[in-house]
Amino acid sequence: MCGIVGYIGPRAATPIILEGLQRLEYRGYDSAGLAVIEANGRVAVRRDAGKLSNLRARVAEAPIEGHIGVGHTRWATHGPPTAYNAHPHRDHTGRIVVVQNGIVENFLALRNELMAQGYEFHSDTDTEVIVQLVSREFDRTEDLAEAARRALNLLHGPSAVVVLSSHEPDKLVVARLGNAGAVVIGHGDGEMFVASDIPAILQHTRRMSYLENRDMAIVTRDGVAYYDLDGQSIPPRPIHDIPWDPVSAAKGRYRHFMQKEIFEQPSAITDTIRGRIDFVTGQVTLRELNLDAEAVRSLHKITIVACGTSFYSGLVGKFLIENLARIPVEVDYGSEYRYRNPILDEHTLVLAITQSGETVDTLAALDEAKRHGSRTAAIVNVVGSQAARVSDGVIYMQAGPEIGVASTKAYTTSIVDQLLLAMYLGQQRGVLDESASQALASELAMLPDKLGRVLAQDDHYRELAVTYANYHNFLYLGRGINYPTAREGALKLKEISYIHAEGYPAGEMKHGPIALIDENMPTVLVAVQDHVYDKMLSQVEQVKARNGKVIAVVNPGDRAVAAKADAIIEVPRAIEWLTPVLAVVPLQLLAYHIAVWRGSDVDQPRNLAKSVTVE
Ligand code: AGP
Repeated sequence: MCGIVGYIGPRAATPIILEGLQRLEYRGYDSAGLAVIEANGRVAVRRDAGKLSNLRARVAEAPIEGHIGVGHTRWATHGPPTAYNAHPHRDHTGRIVVVQNGIVENFLALRNELMAQGYEFHSDTDTEVIVQLVSREFDRTEDLAEAARRALNLLHGPSAVVVLSSHEPDKLVVARLGNAGAVVIGHGDGEMFVASDIPAILQHTRRMSYLENRDMAIVTRDGVAYYDLDGQSIPPRPIHDIPWDPVSAAKGRYRHFMQKEIFEQPSAITDTIRGRIDFVTGQVTLRELNLDAEAVRSLHKITIVACGTSFYSGLVGKFLIENLARIPVEVDYGSEYRYRNPILDEHTLVLAITQSGETVDTLAALDEAKRHGSRTAAIVNVVGSQAARVSDGVIYMQAGPEIGVASTKAYTTSIVDQLLLAMYLGQQRGVLDESASQALASELAMLPDKLGRVLAQDDHYRELAVTYANYHNFLYLGRGINYPTAREGALKLKEISYIHAEGYPAGEMKHGPIALIDENMPTVLVAVQDHVYDKMLSQVEQVKARNGKVIAVVNPGDRAVAAKADAIIEVPRAIEWLTPVLAVVPLQLLAYHIAVWRGSDVDQPRNLAKSVTVE
């Protein structure tokens, strides 16, 4: 998952590109580079392995001046993370450069073809075949856009590409093939931007367009012209006014983006709810869902498809929708769904949950649904992202930019979105009456304040982290609607502290996992006062009987579990449907503090990227 930033306009390109790459570094960061066309017409390139700070050092040693350029941070797919594999890649003349996000699946065949024609290669990357193809086609056409178009039509696999050349130094040629992640066009005043994600250019403009699959755009300082890969002109893509401010895309007073985003959850959830529920009647309105009462009543099944944290959010959604709307729900991994020959028809709603809106496995599941004529919807955070564009309807998380690789506020806001959806469906089907809706509305109104009380105990979570940071394995247990909480809590710990952790339905312990319990295996469990509380109490006893350590998430005043656990975390009482939102926050902070204590790179955990746009 790489990061791309491009600029063309009256200002110096280099600082704009470097600042944009800095804001994209969470996406993929084992090398970085940039290319700028200088006043003398030469294409100057600077590249280095490692963090962006290394590239900044190369630029400081040899500054480059110019008004058009492109930059790239790399998350290696083909070839080790070295300087010579870093983008941009140049053709043999040095006058054409390319940066790419994605994979050229047929790059070996293309590379062999080009080598047989006398082209030499200087990297291990698949990207280098793109720039050599553009170069070969430019020699034949002497037209950069046409050369790029011909080259792109030879590629198999998802790719987002930007081409820059001193042959035609007044334009960037930009293209998107398949689900290679977003390609955003930023519309400035007498200047234009290209980026693979909004935060890279948000401080320059909020007016953004998105390329669709097989779009090619020619970007000049005065605007953008769109074409398909057959060379036909196509209507301009719509310009979205992004409701995020640059400050929200910056860390501010927090040490890490993840920490900031955990503490933003009360305000994020307030924004998620805003304008969608009448707090007097409890009536829910979801304008962009495009699912009227008749369509709701025609539904026989909802299939939720998602990956990672978003998948665990979907597991919570199953409880919410089945209990409040009485529609059967199945939940599946995006990466599994299209390979299991799913049973789909026009009475199925396929609901994607995806923060980025660009996760290739989740997008593929939406494609599968559309192929079967099923309705689709997306719960998504990034405005205008691919999932939002291809779905029949959307419910935005409205969480603001989530930069930290470990997803936090997207998880809790997507659960609130699913509660709103469950209420809406129940109301449209006539199975959720006004008094139940009003009770839920008042619970939602209190949720941000309750979350604030959970966050106020941060020092306690930090102390717990120091106590438990040196263990090598953890078990997370939950039951019912908090079984997914256990899964998500375990994932948070795994992905940022690199400690092995498993989330299990508590009832499964006796079927195997209990063999793992001893004094070296802490168990974190959710034991709030719900209809499975007694079962969780016996779970605590089973773990303690085997010398296991127990950290229990409980409600205030709990005595039974608190008397047996080694440590307790109190979260305010709430209606059962909202307990996953409250119970997960201490687990987010426990993981965060353990990771910080262990010295992990919290916002850029090893091997991970914020949005996975490769299979
Ligand atoms: C969660 O902390 C991870 N970053 C990862 O599991 C993530 O949730 C998953 O890749 C799905 O991303 P999406 O919500 O953008 O589709």
